[in-house]
Amino acid sequence: MARWSATLDKRIQTVKQAYANTKTAEELAETETLIEEIEALKKEKNAVILGHNYMTPDVFWGVSDFTGDSLELSRLAMESEADIILFNGVYFMAETAKILNPARKILIADPKAGCSLSESITPEDIRLLRERHPGAEVVSYINCSADIKAAVDVICTSANAVKVVNSLKGDTVIMVPDGYLARNVQKQTDKKIIIWEGKCMVHELYTPLDIDAARVQWPSAKVIAHPECHPNVTEKTDFTGSTSQMGKYIQDSKAEQVLLLTECSMGDNLRTEFPTVEFVSGCQTCPHMKKITLAKVRDSLKNETFEVHLSPEVIEKGRHSLERMLAIGR
Ligand code: 13P
Ligand code: SF4
Repeated sequence: MARWSATLDKRIQTVKQAYANTKTAEELAETETLIEEIEALKKEKNAVILGHNYMTPDVFWGVSDFTGDSLELSRLAMESEADIILFNGVYFMAETAKILNPARKILIADPKAGCSLSESITPEDIRLLRERHPGAEVVSYINCSADIKAAVDVICTSANAVKVVNSLKGDTVIMVPDGYLARNVQKQTDKKIIIWEGKCMVHELYTPLDIDAARVQWPSAKVIAHPECHPNVTEKTDFTGSTSQMGKYIQDSKAEQVLLLTECSMGDNLRTEFPTVEFVSGCQTCPHMKKITLAKVRDSLKNETFEVHLSPEVIEKGRHSLERMLAIGR
């Protein structure tokens, strides 16, 4: 988790740098005004803004107080004492914040910011899986609804999935909803994993051929991917990890050229953070993450919409699954 406690001037300057080649002077002036308005609203309402690594640079650098991957932002949401937590990410992330800190007002700028993984499974599916595999504990990737969090035994994220699976007592584990993440974990554990076939609509688009072609064109590039990619892809990378772990790898490896197999804005944000690193080839866009825009963030804070509401039962059961993961750690 990174605290981005820059001055207003520094925020605006960083955003201008990020969009130097893509936005007009008029568009940048509009962006600057929005950032100023949001900063004022944050102070007025004692609000904190969390920004996932997939937010566009204006949201990420312009207004986020904390940035990070799902695990880091969950911890931060739990500890926050702000009156309002505005979660700039997708809906399941805002729900996670509500479960972990139910006393706060949790807002999301667009409640339609979903996730193909989250939408691939229902609590009834969990019930049937338990019936079919009696005794096996159910671990769900954090990319799932609050109802699923309440229905399973423990949560994991891309940063700690192997550790969570290995911490379970039984030899057989049910893992939902990401089939590719489960297969990537299966390669690193002796447990037998029962797999649910959900997919991330962004990461499923990468193929081993993307890496083979890049290795020919850019032989010295480090290839980095998210574990939501197919195992045929991850077996060819130099590093596979959570969104924040990918950033840390670039820093620690002192990579000069990088092929990043993940969401486009992550590359944009890393390009701003590491201006001397060359990011090669294309990327894929998550349409859900892209629903969060600076104008919607301003409206969300101004009108205190859209608030996340969950039943006390879902909060209590979901919290148990999340706290079990947080106790295991990274
Ligand atoms: P991270 O937990 O690695 O940030 O991933 C979240 C996500 O939605 C990736 O697609
Ligand atoms: Fe869901 Fe994939 Fe978008 Fe992440 S990138 S929010 S897993 S659809």
